[in-house]
Amino acid sequence: MTKTLPPTVRQRTLAKAHTLLEALPFIREHRGSTVVVKYGGAAMDHTPLSRSFGEDLALLQHVGLEPVVVHGGGPQVTDVAGRMGLRTSFVDGLRVTDEPTLDVATMVLAGKVNTRIVATLQAGGLGAVGLSGVDGGAVVARRRVEPDLGFVGDVVRTDVGVLRAVIQSGYVPVVASIAADEEGQPLNVNADTVAAELAVGLGAAKLVYMNDVPGVIGPEGDLLSELSVQEVLDLLAHADAIEGGMIPKLESAVRALKGGVRRVHLLDGRVEHSLLLELFTPEGIGTMIVGPAVPGESGR
Ligand SMILES: Nc1ncnc2c1ncn2[C@@H]1O[C@H](COP(=O)(O)OP(=O)(O)OP(=O)(O)O)[C@@H](O)[C@H]1O
Ligand SMILES: [Mg+2]
Repeated sequence: MTKTLPPTVRQRTLAKAHTLLEALPFIREHRGSTVVVKYGGAAMDHTPLSRSFGEDLALLQHVGLEPVVVHGGGPQVTDVAGRMGLRTSFVDGLRVTDEPTLDVATMVLAGKVNTRIVATLQAGGLGAVGLSGVDGGAVVARRRVEPDLGFVGDVVRTDVGVLRAVIQSGYVPVVASIAADEEGQPLNVNADTVAAELAVGLGAAKLVYMNDVPGVIGPEGDLLSELSVQEVLDLLAHADAIEGGMIPKLESAVRALKGGVRRVHLLDGRVEHSLLLELFTPEGIGTMIVGPAVPGESGR
């Protein structure tokens, strides 16, 4: 007599198989491509960097994608600066950085936050190497003078050689958003900008921003699940729809797409496995910003 599975078990197993098969076209399409994941300080502030983030990156790496992590740490810098008696102010989402604040930003970003992320990824079985934009001249910046925000830099150029070397050795690079200028002066650069410039330099297919919000919220308070570059530019021109840290984020998303990155995703980093859901399911869960269409692409 042949034994058959009870119908409920059969349904469950079929659903699992279906989920795996659903991921196949996305895996096939993105195999061999680089994905830059910017993990925001805001997301880290709400939920401690979770094991699930490391698991997602490990899966990406095992199916043949090349993940690169860039991280911020705004709330963590503000916290330590406050404990040292330094006042913090922002202009259009960018931190005003005097010399003591630069020291704190360097210590917190390239020290504490970077080390914690690398340690978490290592503990999850993923080989990770911590760097900042200063290492190997990966990100060369120039001090911004208009407006003068102190030691805040704009990216002049990237050299992804050191990142390629790390990737080729089987590790995931984890990059803190501190860069240096031509004279060797360290500068604080917005992490979203660093992520976008490195994504362009690496020829990445995707750039993913992990935030503490579900995605881009439109003027009506609703989640915008898909946007074109023009729609993003219109939103940025719409005075109160986009504020604070979302301004440099969307500006750098536009820069990345104009520089050849195919898709920019904005996700809720507090939601477990949001990275996998966005990259490997047809629905996605956050906001996807698309560059010009390329024949043969799946659309995600
Ligand atoms: N229209 C909008 N949609 C979504 N978020 C918005 C919008 N306008 C402003 N924001 C704010 O932008 C914030 C995200 O930017 P923020 O710079 O704070 O985070 P991050 O870039 O993830 O962290 P870090 O700068 O430390 O790396 C959200 O927490 C939200 O409050
Ligand atoms: Mg930010």
